[in-house]
Amino acid sequence: MTPPPDPTAESLLAFWAEGGVDTMLLEEPVDRIAAGRITPPKPPATRAAAAPAQAAAPAPSRPTQPDVSAAVAEARALAAAADSLDALAEVIAGFDGCPLKFEGAATKAVVWRGEPDAPLMVIGEGPGGDEDRLGQPFVGRAGQLLDKMLGAAGLTGRVMITNTVFWRPPGNRTPTPTEQAVCAPFVERAISLVKPKILLLVGGASAKSMLKKDQGILSMRGRWHEWRSADGTAELPALPTLHPAFLLRQPPAKKQAWADLLTLTERLDRPDRPA
Ligand code: URA
Repeated sequence: MTPPPDPTAESLLAFWAEGGVDTMLLEEPVDRIAAGRITPPKPPATRAAAAPAQAAAPAPSRPTQPDVSAAVAEARALAAAADSLDALAEVIAGFDGCPLKFEGAATKAVVWRGEPDAPLMVIGEGPGGDEDRLGQPFVGRAGQLLDKMLGAAGLTGRVMITNTVFWRPPGNRTPTPTEQAVCAPFVERAISLVKPKILLLVGGASAKSMLKKDQGILSMRGRWHEWRSADGTAELPALPTLHPAFLLRQPPAKKQAWADLLTLTERLDRPDRPA
């Protein structure tokens, strides 16, 4: 018989999960300090007495540090050869050039969900713990809020949802510009296959990376920007908005996110002018 849940253990697990520690690597805890794998921090040495810096040992399962431009070039070639979303998902899953794949994410890439010919493409930052576990973007609490907001704006069934990176950054940290750069050719190819009319860029890390701007989300949100493909041949109107995870922490900001969605639907539903 399964023993009843232990409330102390449950609350401790909830505490760790809240802090981003939500993956169990082994059945039993390992005291790595006692095992000598981690050296406890020493008191800071003075500059003069400091020993010469030692190169950090690479993490065990990680391949050699990828050459970023080679990884971007490889991603670009793979993306260009993919002639459907399914083919693209397959090459992303087999791609080893993004370091995130080796930093604790489940090896399954989290690519996209939604309508393959949606007029609106939502681009978030990167998968979190729930997305990593379930293999789909925006399926945790933030994703549920996003779906509710899109539904309230009449956008259910008119959206394709993806992220700037396809593997979960450890501890749900923000993806780095390098991680985003190696995934960018795949994001761009997904855009060219879906052919949306508009991009909704969710959160600062998405807006900065997609628009190549170094401004905060609060100054970019709610205003129209132009997204351009790397070779400059494609462009689309892009609207940055607040991340639903932020809205969960700051509910009064939902007002601004709602205003952004109204700005978006007004343009999305505007009849196309004849050429
Ligand atoms: N946050 C994101 O930016 N993307 C997800 O898929 C989930 C949470």
